[in-house]
Amino acid sequence: MIEPVIDVRDLTKVYQMGEVEVHALRGVSMQVMPGEMVAIMGPSGSGKSTLMNMLGCLDTPTSGEYYLEGAAVSDLNDQGLTSIRRHKVGFVFQTYNLLSRTSALANVEIPLIYGGVPRRQRRQRAIEALEMVGLGDRLHHQPNELSGGEQQRVAVARSLASEPAIILADEPTGNLDTRSGKEVMAVFQQLNRERGITVILVTHDPDIARHAQRIIWVRDGLVERAEQVGDRILADDSQGSEEDKGQAVAVAALDASGTFEEVAS
Ligand SMILES: Nc1ncnc2c1ncn2[C@@H]1O[C@H](COP(=O)(O)OP(=O)(O)OP(=O)(O)O)[C@@H](O)[C@H]1O
Ligand SMILES: [Mg+2]
Repeated sequence: MIEPVIDVRDLTKVYQMGEVEVHALRGVSMQVMPGEMVAIMGPSGSGKSTLMNMLGCLDTPTSGEYYLEGAAVSDLNDQGLTSIRRHKVGFVFQTYNLLSRTSALANVEIPLIYGGVPRRQRRQRAIEALEMVGLGDRLHHQPNELSGGEQQRVAVARSLASEPAIILADEPTGNLDTRSGKEVMAVFQQLNRERGITVILVTHDPDIARHAQRIIWVRDGLVERAEQVGDRILADDSQGSEEDKGQAVAVAALDASGTFEEVAS
């Protein structure tokens, strides 16, 4: 039987703000299977980012259990947690968090320095990761020389360079226009399909969520429901069909006018 890669049981998180307790998570239980692509949706303040921070071991829960690839995360020491953050999970945030005046290549490479990867291998992996997100021809561009969508794809490449099993993305398309958002989703779907990387992303946009296989709804620090996406959007296909549509219009215009020149002009 296949075990879930992420298994969260009754997770709570209470933030102490002076006298006031903020109950950000009030008993979240959820499982994600290896190779799944899941979207988390829910109102602002419902606990989505808090949950993502727990999943990525960036923060510790107040109570509850979290098993990552079958191992209890609460049993890990600091070294174990650091190792998960460096090798198991890749993070992508709404704000790309790239270093300014630093090339795309260096932005992807720098975390690998901390990971202790030797120089040549580092360069190699960074180039491969940038090629994977379709930026093989933008290696030496600095963030201000890239579009928003391209900057986010550099951030995705950075999360990939450590060869993670899981990518956690908190509103990765939140700052992007529809088209750039779709490009980023195409990259996630490709990594999910071709490399079997488990992808968990938070979004407020129902169309972005429909790129996932499953949607988990969070409300008031609890999982409200989960649903399988019936009419999943495949980013590559929809781009193709837009082209097809464009072609169909051109053909219709050609039929109407009778000459190609008139259509082209
Ligand atoms: N570090 C913190 N200290 C205290 N309270 C916090 C902290 N982080 C989050 N909270 C509170 O916990 C609750 C959940 O916040 P969280 O950021 O997880 O929401 P969210 O679902 O990601 O919202 P959004 O969609 O706006 O990003 C909110 O009420 C927030 O104010
Ligand atoms: Mg959030």
